[in-house]
Amino acid sequence: MAQTSLETYITEHESRFLDDLKEWLRIPSISTLPEHAGDIRRAAEYAANQLRTIGFEHVELVATQGHPLVYADWLKAEGKPTVLIYGHYDVQPVDPIDLWQTPPFEPAERDGNLYARGACDDKGQTMLVLKALEALMRTAGSLPVNVRVLIEGEEENGGEAVEHFVRTASHRLACDAALICDTHMPSAENPALISGLRGIIYTEVEVRGARQDLHSGSYGGVAPNPLHTLAIIISRLKDAEGHIHIPGLYDRLRQPTAAEKTFWQQDPLHMNESLLEEMGVTQFTGEAEYPPLERIWGRPTLEVHGIVGGFTGEGAKTVIPAVAKAKISMRLPADLSADEVFTLFERTVHDYAPAGVIVSVRKIHTGEGVLVAPDSQAVAAATAALQETYGKEPVFMREGGSIPIAALFDAILHAPVVLMGFGLPDDNLHAPNEKFSLAQYYKGIRTVARFLQHMA
Ligand code: BES
Ligand code: ZN
Repeated sequence: MAQTSLETYITEHESRFLDDLKEWLRIPSISTLPEHAGDIRRAAEYAANQLRTIGFEHVELVATQGHPLVYADWLKAEGKPTVLIYGHYDVQPVDPIDLWQTPPFEPAERDGNLYARGACDDKGQTMLVLKALEALMRTAGSLPVNVRVLIEGEEENGGEAVEHFVRTASHRLACDAALICDTHMPSAENPALISGLRGIIYTEVEVRGARQDLHSGSYGGVAPNPLHTLAIIISRLKDAEGHIHIPGLYDRLRQPTAAEKTFWQQDPLHMNESLLEEMGVTQFTGEAEYPPLERIWGRPTLEVHGIVGGFTGEGAKTVIPAVAKAKISMRLPADLSADEVFTLFERTVHDYAPAGVIVSVRKIHTGEGVLVAPDSQAVAAATAALQETYGKEPVFMREGGSIPIAALFDAILHAPVVLMGFGLPDDNLHAPNEKFSLAQYYKGIRTVARFLQHMA
């Protein structure tokens, strides 16, 4: 009976659920760009209003050093467990804007998908949780468990504010389990629970040479060239075979489980093919002795995101630049501590720098990876919910991205974390034409509602 009315409620309200998501997506809440501070606030208020309308209490915009957090709770399910739900209302920048088929902040439906920045990551996945809560509340008059909601506004910018809040106000987040919907499934037919995410260190390496830019005819041959120095440092850090040459880096890396090794080697869901297809390339790069899935999920990696310096305009200018900078990050399986790796990274960059330049390494942000215990009751509840909505047992697999808050919930709140996401591999996160499948949005609502019922 309860199930029928829940199902009916969701079906009857699907189109409004979509309208509410679209309205949220129209707010350009880009956390990394200061000119969007007002939009960030509006996006936070939008989430707070949704929570108030559902019937949440203590709905609050928590002021921080950075962007506000949205907190709310509903704690009237006496004797029932408490579930902490986390999401983020900030989104990535939109450049290159020319490559969007429709404007990023004008949500557009095409072929069963909703296109907009944040459609999947993470407004779509946060809104589906709010709609699950609404459906439960409207049909039963109460929630099956106690719920705390925490939605942050700077996940895409390092998530410092939320980290501070979790560390200093952990009593406000006391819970028996945490739910994060900010990950993917291998395909719409294959639901997944995520068993591990990588941590990250994000850095800026700056090289300074001469006092000012120099004429390459008068000084070329004796002057330090910061751009070339950067190229040398970068090529020494990671070789053409994808091996990272940072002494000590691989020492602490733990062996994956036998089941993981088999999954990575055999690739039963043919994810390798999809990866090539998504990237639009014909072969993988990196450490050939490890299967591609292991390279993304289980190995540390190092990437250069951008290099600036010198002359890049039209035509020619014979200049030796005085300064050059590179943004370099590393992804780290949960066994490796981000702070320890940063120290190793910094030392190695200095070691690899030729004499005659000044090199500095700046930490932009770091976050720990996480491994999820497969045997918690919360994981069992999520497994049952996915099985019911998708008609198929979820796979338990890792992903290569980072959600640093997950490790913090684990370490500070001692709460088992459920990483249950509804994104699909071709959702174009952080890229032009980000989208979210409408079918996934509606199934997500049903799955989260059932998950909370199972938690009771
Ligand atoms: N939703 C992603 C995390 C993600 C990406 C999980 C891909 C699984 C696969 C999240 O919003 C994100 O992009 N996180 C950043 C974290 C960083 C800024 C600390 C990331 O992974 O780059
Ligand atoms: Zn996200």
